Amino acid sequence: MFSAIGRLVNARLAFRRVFSTGRSAVFQMQSRQHDNRVDQELREMVHRYDLSVPIDRAITPPSSWYTSPAMYKLEKDTVFKNNWLAIGRKDQVQHAGQYFTANVVGEPLVVCRDLQGQLRAFLNVCCHRGMPVAKGEDTVSQFDCSYHGWSYALDGRLLKATKMKGIQNFKAKENGLKSLAVTTWGPFVLVKMTGNSTGVESKGLKLDKVETVLKQLDYDPDVEDVVFAKRITRTINSNWKTVVENFSDGGYHVDVTHKTFSDGYYDASTLQMLDVTEDFTIQVLKTNPNNPKAETRIGKSSTYIYIYPNFMISRYGPWVEAITLIPHEYDRTDFVFDFFLDKSYFQNKPRDEVSNFIEESVGLADKIQDEDDEICEGVHLGLMSSAYDAGRYVPRVEMSQYVFHQRLAKELRSSENI
Ligand code: FES
Ligand SMILES: [Fe+2]
Repeated sequence: MFSAIGRLVNARLAFRRVFSTGRSAVFQMQSRQHDNRVDQELREMVHRYDLSVPIDRAITPPSSWYTSPAMYKLEKDTVFKNNWLAIGRKDQVQHAGQYFTANVVGEPLVVCRDLQGQLRAFLNVCCHRGMPVAKGEDTVSQFDCSYHGWSYALDGRLLKATKMKGIQNFKAKENGLKSLAVTTWGPFVLVKMTGNSTGVESKGLKLDKVETVLKQLDYDPDVEDVVFAKRITRTINSNWKTVVENFSDGGYHVDVTHKTFSDGYYDASTLQMLDVTEDFTIQVLKTNPNNPKAETRIGKSSTYIYIYPNFMISRYGPWVEAITLIPHEYDRTDFVFDFFLDKSYFQNKPRDEVSNFIEESVGLADKIQDEDDEICEGVHLGLMSSAYDAGRYVPRVEMSQYVFHQRLAKELRSSENI
């Protein structure tokens, strides 16, 4: 009797095992099919931009490049992994123990100067449960995780893990913070998520032409002749590429979008594309000669430099303005504006005059940015709409956008999954 029941139970268990194995095999197959379909869609999306067509006949990338989470993920794994990304300033990590944090394309980062004075960068993630080990910016002698109290040296080594008695196969030296490549250029700090990830400062950015142009504008990035004056941060509901395109459209939008300012401050008809390469673009715009106030504030001309993928520098009057773009999602991008002022500007000037000048100039840049934000957010709505698929280039002024898209397309295609 018992053996008959036993046989029945065993048969049912065997049936269940076969059934559930079958079900999980079906599930795995369905999920593989789903992944293949997504890969196929992404591949088609990337290849919809035809690299071989010259600007006068070319079609811009499709709107899905700006509105698809899968495309954003691909950019994250290619563009934002393979290139130097501007993320902060040297003065934020001037002294031993000083650090700042950032969050770029979903990766929490920390840059610090270790106790030996070496610049280092890490993923800001505790190896125990993933809590960031550093917040904001500060000066410390080590990083202490605020969750369970593990601590790390400023060179990334795990120094202390609490209540670990009884753990097997655990080696502290295999459990440090993950290092990133880090470099400086002028007063800026840049990191790279792949490549030489020793965490030790490396020489990496080759921008000879940009440096030559800046030196002609009385600003040498190798000489510490500007001081940090003010930071402004903004978030915009738009794809990061729309912001890049708006910055480097050969001035096409200036006298329309910025009518008030272009009338008062700039002569929009003078905008000139000085250089367009896949690594950077340089544009120059002359100041309105009929407004004496304009020249005091922004000098005789403004030079706008875009450095692929997320960095922009403007030089005008005594100012160096740096914009770092920090994408968080396909439809959300942070701007960090850092304003630097020529040291020579401070000479023999009362403090009040300098601080008024800073407030007024930064206020002006901020107002112009309000107008740009409105444009970028408006464009994003349009890109999300079924009414828009892709557009055309205006060849005489939009060469930098065309070159930007060519570079992007090449990088996206270089992914082994595409
Ligand atoms: S997550 Fe950092 S100590 Fe637990
Ligand atoms: Fe603008």
